[in-house]
Amino acid sequence: MALRPIITAPDKRLKARSAPVEAVDDEVRTLLDDMLESMYAAEGIGLAAIQVGVAKRCIVTDVHPPDEPHAPLKLVNPEIVWRSDERVSHEEGCLSFPDHYAEVERPASVTVAYQDETGAAREVTAVGTLAVCLQHEIDHLEGVLFVDYLSLVKRSIILRKLTKARRAAAGA
Ligand code: NI
Repeated sequence: MALRPIITAPDKRLKARSAPVEAVDDEVRTLLDDMLESMYAAEGIGLAAIQVGVAKRCIVTDVHPPDEPHAPLKLVNPEIVWRSDERVSHEEGCLSFPDHYAEVERPASVTVAYQDETGAAREVTAVGTLAVCLQHEIDHLEGVLFVDYLSLVKRSIILRKLTKARRAAAGA
């Protein structure tokens, strides 16, 4: 396993649509393992492959509570096949938007069909943080970011701060 650098916004790669995975092979399994390791190192709860620069439909999550064991999920070609009518608002962050958080409203529960790391077809029905996380990560595969749900003004402020922070880091 290896850490892969996480792309931060603004970066046009984050707006790319990711391609379906044709075969779940060793390359994909290594990618998933690297993504999990990189996500844990950054103290995140979800990561999409495009955030490490790979435009493939792979995501990883782990939303276990702090006092419980790790509960990693690796999802290849994930697709939302059911959404609840009930919607909830939840504060979201993203490893590609360090130190920025905002309330986003989404369906409270979803069912996601996917392939696991052996290529087997699986389904997971989630509520709470996992439901939010899965929807957020699957959005990444379409080039959709959580800030896209905010007003143009709020989005511009966040992107401006990120650009400024990057310039400051580059000049340091
Ligand atoms: Ni994200």
